[in-house]
Amino acid sequence: MAKRIITTDETEEDLRLEPSLRPQLLDQYIGQEKAKKSLKIYIKAAKDRGESLDHVLFYGPPGLGKTTLAGIIANEMGVNLKVTSGPAIEKPGEIAAVLNSLNEGDVLFVDEIHRLNRQVEEVLYPAMEDFAIDIMIGKGAAARSIRLDLPRFTLIGATTRAGLLTAPLRDRFGVIHHLEYYTEDELQTIVLRSAHVLGVEINEQGALEIAKRSRGTPRLANRLLKRTRDYAQVMHDGRITDEAAREALDFLDVDPMGLDNLDREILSTMIGKFQGGPVGLDTLAAAIGEDSGTIEDVYEPYLIKNGFLVRTPKGRAVTDHAYLHLGLTLPERAGV
Ligand code: ADE
Repeated sequence: MAKRIITTDETEEDLRLEPSLRPQLLDQYIGQEKAKKSLKIYIKAAKDRGESLDHVLFYGPPGLGKTTLAGIIANEMGVNLKVTSGPAIEKPGEIAAVLNSLNEGDVLFVDEIHRLNRQVEEVLYPAMEDFAIDIMIGKGAAARSIRLDLPRFTLIGATTRAGLLTAPLRDRFGVIHHLEYYTEDELQTIVLRSAHVLGVEINEQGALEIAKRSRGTPRLANRLLKRTRDYAQVMHDGRITDEAAREALDFLDVDPMGLDNLDREILSTMIGKFQGGPVGLDTLAAAIGEDSGTIEDVYEPYLIKNGFLVRTPKGRAVTDHAYLHLGLTLPERAGV
């Protein structure tokens, strides 16, 4: 699959860039008002009682700030943050070692928590509930388990696929939050803040232009800001004005709705070769030369969410909105 600037996956550059742009405290965090409000209350309550925070689960699309919030919670609680991920922990002994290394009150962040295997998950159940792990010693008839007490810690789990979490794991989280896509206003504020942190001069309209094309995702907004800064530095006087931002984003082939070339190719192929659909996913994938799973998981969700494409029982079909967005006249038929 081609590398897309609009991917919401974490790129190498994001890993370098994100830490400096990440807000450290809840009051610096923009958006996700509902999650922020309830976290503020739970953090204060836990601190006032001198206890650790209840376990927290964040779910929602990538790039919306799950890791950032975990860092903020640790900062607000005044404890250490330990970060790991579902795929990184393969054996029960590995998670036991991580748990055993925690100090009282620490936050353990497990990204992609739905990818933990069953045996590892089973170590987590008593750890989350009773702050203890059961370790088996000996073999056969002589085998017995001993209980090892752990400090009281907070587990923060993050997942893009809440449906894949097992019920016993999900039930052990006291606080569950769905993270939402950000509004244009929120993204504009984030871009202005990030520009300030990076020392880039930008005006409100320039920030709005980047916000509009960022697919509701701060990770993408910050990445587009960086590319726009490069463009403005070389092609303009370094300031990100609306004109510079528009030019830079057009140059990056990210259009005013945040679609890139591949998104537009999917829509124009459906219109040009299949009269707008409905067309089966496999047929469409073959026509574009892309894997059908990739189309389904990576391209399609944003197109569906923004009303360019619909799923019908007979396959995928474009909407009138897609024709209009591509500057085409509507076909002689009732719109889908
Ligand atoms: N940078 C990335 N996400 C952010 C957010 N939600 N608030 C402030 N800055 C951010």
